[in-house]
Amino acid sequence: MKYEKEINRRKSFAIISHPDAGKTTLTEKFLLFGGAIQTAGAVKSNKIKKHATSDFMEIERQRGISVATSVMTFEYEGFLINLLDTPGHKDFAEDTYRTLTAVDSVVLVVDSVNGVEDQTRRLMEVCRMRDTPVIVFINKMDRDGKNRFDLLEEIEKELNISLHPMTLPINSGKDFKGVYNLHEKNLLLFAANTKTEDASAIIEDLNDAILDKKIGENDATILREDVELVDGVYGELNVKDYLKGKVAPVFFGSAVNNFGVKEMLDTFIRIAPTPRNRETTVREVAAEEDKFSGFVFKIHANLDPKHRDRIAFLRVCSGKFERNKYYKHVRLEKDIRFSNPYSFLARSKDIIEDAYPGDVVGLFDTGNFKIGDTLTEGERFYFTGIPSFSPEIFKELVNKDPMKTKQMEKGISQLTDEGVAQLFTQFGGNKKIIGCVGELQFEVIQYRLLQEYGAAVEFRTLPFYKACWLTSTDNKKLEEFLRFKQQNSAEDKDGNPVYLAQSEWFLNTEISNNPDIQFHFTSEIH
Ligand code: G4P
Repeated sequence: MKYEKEINRRKSFAIISHPDAGKTTLTEKFLLFGGAIQTAGAVKSNKIKKHATSDFMEIERQRGISVATSVMTFEYEGFLINLLDTPGHKDFAEDTYRTLTAVDSVVLVVDSVNGVEDQTRRLMEVCRMRDTPVIVFINKMDRDGKNRFDLLEEIEKELNISLHPMTLPINSGKDFKGVYNLHEKNLLLFAANTKTEDASAIIEDLNDAILDKKIGENDATILREDVELVDGVYGELNVKDYLKGKVAPVFFGSAVNNFGVKEMLDTFIRIAPTPRNRETTVREVAAEEDKFSGFVFKIHANLDPKHRDRIAFLRVCSGKFERNKYYKHVRLEKDIRFSNPYSFLARSKDIIEDAYPGDVVGLFDTGNFKIGDTLTEGERFYFTGIPSFSPEIFKELVNKDPMKTKQMEKGISQLTDEGVAQLFTQFGGNKKIIGCVGELQFEVIQYRLLQEYGAAVEFRTLPFYKACWLTSTDNKKLEEFLRFKQQNSAEDKDGNPVYLAQSEWFLNTEISNNPDIQFHFTSEIH
């Protein structure tokens, strides 16, 4: 195994959270520990604060920021860590879902005041689909949050995952005194904005009176009871179960105060998976294989409006990626090479010579790539498990300038390749239907079609709420259904049949009326 050493020192992960739970703050602390940045405040949040703004320059600017900080690579304790950023704004959720296909594990941030929020639920669903190992960080313990056990119960129930507390908090809000590390068996005392390492006290025996002295008799008693309870219920963390995505270790802390973050990072280093094997349409590809393979999970366009360049984000899955070497673009059946691939070191983009499994490489692209494309050293396969999710808002694309039909078609085809939106074509009618997760994307599409392709379009709202991909072993039944439901059926970009449901009621009725047809809420890109 030629590249074992490189592979075993890499850990690639993403931080996910509902907006405002503290993802940006936590990212920054990680980078500080990794020495990738020197001062707090260096990481800019990429969230789009305004909703449905018509200030597109702002969107573009925000997009610019998000590409610069899309992947942050830093070293910590001899490991090379790739932290993949995910957009917090819910309108860009698809982007986040796809980024999750490129990581080997996830840190989930939960706000101790708000508990489990909408966005968290959906992101966790994606992690569960892929059995992604998850570490949970319960943030903002310096605020009056929910009771620690209520929080654990809520997360377990709402996110349908078993938790394993690694630390236990002593109170919250202004009475927050710190966390007890169940694994290290030491107490970390909380003092806002200080170097917390100095404050940590090792307490080998919880019955030691020093505990009462440090946190007061009352809280010491509660902590002893908590620890007894938790030890009795959970015992030692089973790392294998974590790696299978069955159990998630939990830490309590306060990101803004840099409290409890190092404990989590140290555990992350110890247990988080190195690049894992990946399924393809043909066989499982092991990270350790000599031959290079990788796939595109994100495409970012229009960094420089004058050049209309795109950057394809490639996750290396096996072997070694090398600059200027020819690789097979499986879908296009053509060999291509890259003279300026770059890596994403926290501050600047650097041209790189090579990359290993777990790394993300930025490839300049003039329109060759779409999401899910695979590069290999000759073998033909696609990586699987890169899903498309049903959009939530559907609009008909109306061409305002028939002279520009060609430009519009090209533009919408490229934008949907990038994954900005999904395109459905109604059977029979040829109506173009654009499906997005959020309103913001329609504005982005309209703006970009005009700016980049000179095509003026508008949108007409359609009464659909979900798209379901249809399969059946009985082709005749499927064809019949599609003919009968012409108003509600369409094909996606790859020609797969889709049912567009007006409401949950309609959908459930069709599901029960058509037992021979399977309705899928996601579709595999390959
Ligand atoms: P996000 O990326 O998940 O959207 O969240 P972000 O880190 O931007 O944090 C959202 C807000 O929560 C920020 O305040 C941040 O300072 C605050 N925050 C993060 N961690 C903690 C914590 O442990 N305790 C408390 N009390 N607050 C925390 P903001 O006012 O929105 O922004 P800023 O002006 O402070 O940057």
